[in-house]
This record gives sequence, structure tokens and C-alpha cells, in this order.
Amino acid sequence: MAQNRQWLFNKRPKKDIEADTLILQDTNLPEPGDGEFLLRSIYVSMDATNRLWLGDWDLYMEPITPGQPMKGFTLGEVVKSRNPAFPVGALAAGLAPWAEYSVHDGIGFSVMPNIPGLKLAEAFGVLAIAGPTALVGLMEVGRAKKGDTVVVTAAAGAVGMLVGQIAKIHGCKAIGIAGGAEKCRWLTEEFGYDHAIDYKREDVVQRLRGLAPEGVDVHYENVGGELLDAGLSVMKNFGSVVICGLISTYNSAAGDRIPGPYMFRNLIMRRLRVEGFVILDYVDKYPQYQQQLAGWMLEGRLKGRMHVEPGIERAVDALKMLYTGANTGKLMVQFGREPQGS
Ligand SMILES: NC(=O)c1ccc[n+]([C@@H]2O[C@H](COP(=O)([O-])OP(=O)(O)OC[C@H]3O[C@@H](n4cnc5c(N)ncnc54)[C@H](OP(=O)(O)O)[C@@H]3O)[C@@H](O)[C@H]2O)c1
Repeated sequence: MAQNRQWLFNKRPKKDIEADTLILQDTNLPEPGDGEFLLRSIYVSMDATNRLWLGDWDLYMEPITPGQPMKGFTLGEVVKSRNPAFPVGALAAGLAPWAEYSVHDGIGFSVMPNIPGLKLAEAFGVLAIAGPTALVGLMEVGRAKKGDTVVVTAAAGAVGMLVGQIAKIHGCKAIGIAGGAEKCRWLTEEFGYDHAIDYKREDVVQRLRGLAPEGVDVHYENVGGELLDAGLSVMKNFGSVVICGLISTYNSAAGDRIPGPYMFRNLIMRRLRVEGFVILDYVDKYPQYQQQLAGWMLEGRLKGRMHVEPGIERAVDALKMLYTGANTGKLMVQFGREPQGS
């Protein structure tokens, strides 16, 4: 049996991820050098942005180039260590190759605290990326305040489900947009959204006008395209538009001409503030955000719905789910077993 397996980035996809984009290969078990540790991967987060790393867009970070291992945000167990900050048995999180085992020097990694009362997958799924992104996007970029009407796209997804709940914690009215009746039911029944709109079946602009007759204060965008246009159409004067993600465009190449937004003129007509952000710019404040988010989770005010796919073999098929809406919660792949007792 192979000592280690990893996914290699083989060939840049033209649009959707293809059968030969990534290949699973056997490799040797790496040995940590001075100042390094060996990480056994447990959960690997599947994030919409992973597709962008395989593309040719000019990004917020270096893309991965063919011939390199695919990477993802990973929670693992330190199983060998020559780095005192990451002792054997510690749980560490950071950007790692999509591999069963990998060696790291600790830069960009943090030891994940054990939070009694939270399951490991839930703690990683909410606290690592989705939770800080939802919190920063809504409160710091969107500047949401009590009484605001907040609209969220991809509202049943990892980030979106948390944005609605955080909006409710802050006394806002939350309207979520998602694909399908089942996801819309979760929005109101599981995540506390006041209203849900099924963009696959309903006229989104008409529904938004009915649900927010005074207009929308904060629009939290995860999708782009027609949904962003719908949002721009119903903003209140001086409202905020948070550009968190544009997932509907991520399977495009750099040269593709992506249409819209057509309602760009409302930036003037409605005096809007539109701001994009990348959560990596906020890592210094992560401990503060994580404490806040974990507190709400332990109080039962913030819930995460997890979607865990089993086994390293599932990684590529799992990633593809994000772009079709097949994921039913914060998506991650379990590469290895949880340590006993966690
Ligand atoms: N700025 C940052 O730092 C940052 C950090 C993390 C995430 N993000 C962004 O947040 C967004 C959500 O990411 P996530 O990881 O939480 O994924 P997610 O929302 O759990 O999954 C993606 C969801 O997007 C929806 N979707 C995909 N293609 C679509 C399309 N063409 N039209 C409409 N909806 C579509 C699907 O939901 P439906 O079934 O409802 O269609 C799908 O389930 C992404 O845009 C991502 O890039 C940004």
C-alpha cells in the first residue's frame, strides 16, 4: 500500500474542472526537517475559490501551476514534529497540499484550540473560513446595523447560511436567495432567515420589491451575474453592496467576456458603496472573530450545516459540487480519521 497519496494539478481546465485536471498519485511519506512538522490531514475544506487557483485569472494570490500539488485549507493532526510550536498530537490548520500527509514549517498555520461542546468538523467548517468571512463581510465591509434589511445570495451555502444568522443576531431583517425549495426551506426553518427566494423558480426582482418595499440596506453578494443585478435594482439610497464572491463566473478563463452588471448605473442613482474584500487580509483579527463565532455557536445562536464527503478519492467530485449547487452545507472532504477522543 502507498505510504501517502496526493492530488496533483495536471492540466488547466478550459471551463468546468475536467477528468484530467487533477490526478491522484502515490507518493512517499515526507520526513520533517529542522523546524518542521508532519501533518496528517483530517478535513480539507472545499472552497469556491479553489477553482480560481487552477485558472489563469490575475488573482489575489499566486495561482497553482500544473505539476504542483493541489492545495486547500486543511485541518490535520501533527504526527511527527521538529517544531516546538506544533507538538505531536496538536491539531493544526492552514493551507496544505491535498495529501494524506504533508510537511510544513508552521508559517501560515495555527494550532486549533479544542472547544468543548463543538464537534471538530463543525468547529473547522465554521471557524476556519466561512464564519470569519460572513462576519467581516456583513459587519465590517457591509456595516450592517440594527433594523437594516440584508439580502444574501448563495444563502444556503457555507458563508451565506452564517451571514443570515449573524444579521438576525444584530437585529436585521434577512432575506436569502438560494436554488430550490429544499434549500429555501432551510433558510427560514434552520438558519432563521425571515424570507427565502428560490432564484431557479421565482422572479427575484419582483420578490425583493415585495419583501423590501423600502429598499435594501446591505446586499451581500456571493454569486454575481443576474443575482447581483437583481440586488442592485432594489437598493436603498446610500446602501452597501458587499462583493464577497462571484461564483457564477469562476469557471471562466481570463479572456472570457463576462457580462454585466447591467444595473451599474444604480451606483450613482442610489449613491451606493460597493466594496470587495478577501478574508486573508483580516487574519490578524482571527482570534477575536473565532471567539465571537464560537461563543454564538455554544449559545445555540449560530448553527453550521456541514456536508462531509468521505475519502481523499472524493476530493475532485466534491469540489465540483460547489458550482452546481449539489453541496448541502459547508463542504469538506475527510481525508483521515479524527483523533480518538476529539
Ligand atoms: N471574499 C472572501 O474572502 C471569500 C471567502 C470565502 C468564500 N467567498 C465566496 O463566498 C461564496 C460562497 O462560497 P462557499 O465556499 O460558502 O460556497 P457555498 O456557498 O457553500 O457553495 C456554493 C453555492 O453557490 C451557489 N451557486 C453556484 N453556482 C451558481 C450560479 N451559477 N448561480 C447561482 N448560484 C450558484 C450554489 O448554491 P444554490 O444551490 O443556491 O445555487 C452553491 O451551493 C463564493 O463566491 C466564494 O468565492 C469569499
